[in-house]
Amino acid sequence: MATKVLVVFYSMYGHVYTLAEAIAAGAREIPEVEITFRQVAELVPEEVLEKSGAKAAREAFAHVPLARVEELAEADAILFGTPTRFGNMAAQMRNFLDQTGGLWAKGALVGKVGSVFTSTASQHGGQETTITSFHITLLHHGMVIVGVPYTAPGLTTMAEITGGTPYGASTLTGVDGSRQPSDNEKEIARFQGRHVAEIAKRLQR
Ligand SMILES: Cc1cc2nc3c(=O)[nH]c(=O)nc-3n(C[C@H](O)[C@H](O)[C@H](O)COP(=O)(O)O)c2cc1C
Repeated sequence: MATKVLVVFYSMYGHVYTLAEAIAAGAREIPEVEITFRQVAELVPEEVLEKSGAKAAREAFAHVPLARVEELAEADAILFGTPTRFGNMAAQMRNFLDQTGGLWAKGALVGKVGSVFTSTASQHGGQETTITSFHITLLHHGMVIVGVPYTAPGLTTMAEITGGTPYGASTLTGVDGSRQPSDNEKEIARFQGRHVAEIAKRLQR
């Protein structure tokens, strides 16, 4: 029986989307894994997206279908990606999670693997707080939290400025958003995808 891995993200400028692609690629490396790739709904008005330059950036992932909350219940493992907003998850992701009360009431996510990845503008802008505070919601759902173990070699490199935490993959965008996820960050994201899929498969057995 295939292990079902759902990757669900919110991205405004594309950085979290790029990490999500790397995560899905990593999960695909594990045999008999079925990937569902989704984004959550935008809440920002069109004119604000236009002014902030996000409208053009979002075209790159406009093809990704919107997630439905019921899809969470169908997965064995769920990887959630969100940009950091003031050290926390984005409202768009919070809004999606706040529609999962019905799933919570049924215990529909209990025992599923949950994992989180993020993006910040600055090096110490809150990657760890975003990921670990996100974990609280997953724990309320009874999910089994999985991060990135230090067997991912990229976590300890001192050769470059890089994202990547033991709590989950991450990237840095720079204050103007011009920095794109590095090879090291994408490799850590692939590691997370593989690791989550492998653990979900073991739990399924
Ligand atoms: C309202 C707002 C709050 C933000 N808060 C933070 C923050 O606390 N720390 C930080 O480093 N970057 C912060 N940023 C920058 C975003 O994290 C950055 O734009 C995002 O990671 C880019 O991801 P994306 O390309 O997937 O949208 C903030 C951006 C906005 C619009």
